[in-house]
Amino acid sequence: MGNSDVAMPTEVDTTFQPTRSAPLLLFGGPYGNLEALHALLEQAARLGVPDRNLLCTGDLAAYCADAQALVNEIRARDIAVVQGNCEQSLGAGSDDCGCGFETGSACDLLATQWYQYTMSELHDSSCAWMRRLPAQIDFTWGGRRWWAIHGGLRQNNRFLFASASDSQLAAELPQTADIVVAGHCGIPFTRAVSGQLWHNPGVIGVPANDGTRRVWFSLAEASDDCIKITHHALSYDAETASRKMRARGLTVYAQALLDGLWPSLDVLPRAERRATGKPLGFDPIYWSGDQRRQEYA
Ligand SMILES: [Fe+2]
Repeated sequence: MGNSDVAMPTEVDTTFQPTRSAPLLLFGGPYGNLEALHALLEQAARLGVPDRNLLCTGDLAAYCADAQALVNEIRARDIAVVQGNCEQSLGAGSDDCGCGFETGSACDLLATQWYQYTMSELHDSSCAWMRRLPAQIDFTWGGRRWWAIHGGLRQNNRFLFASASDSQLAAELPQTADIVVAGHCGIPFTRAVSGQLWHNPGVIGVPANDGTRRVWFSLAEASDDCIKITHHALSYDAETASRKMRARGLTVYAQALLDGLWPSLDVLPRAERRATGKPLGFDPIYWSGDQRRQEYA
């Protein structure tokens, strides 16, 4: 890997400045799924969301076929991206994805296949760019302080699912944030904890193990008295994405795109395992956070 483009990683990025006049569009885990990214960008255009209001919680390159093309598109649009464990590992030239799978588990064995493929697919300059991505993006929007991270606050490959306890989530919510936007776990959910909000918009690269081909993103809209968050299912050309994966030998996850089920449930807590194959649905969330609200400069 060449080193002409190398710089120290930026831990916290404070330059993300979405416009208040449009919603925020939050998404995670594109995983090299170019067809899903294109569907998302088309949806953003339909909704009137400019690129500057898009925020990705990381893991651009993983299970699917088009890591390099996807990175090209994200970079060309200058979309804000938090460094996921995949960017961290690919950027460092590590031997594995850093997902935190137990050695020898099904997830670990499956990861070996796509990680090697993705590593060979990405250009050196993309790995160098990934290395420079921020571990955290802090911004103020709608009168609230937001922190975007990948997994957990101190561990970017920590799996935090909807079944996490209030105390587990509270430990990951910094006092200086009103809303934490996180990714990594692959299944969307939102929880209010002690006047703060934990929000995971889900991922667009692989279905949510709910037995459908849909993938997930979210929209945040701000009014004077609350933040409204809506989880959105996204349909896209999964057949084409899956066919390209098969052609490159990424057969197991190619099937996951079509049947909507994860090939391994190793990382799932019991509650999420029981929800396998049950289609997800969400009501809108109206969150005021009144007890914490401040006026930020
Ligand atoms: Fe991740």
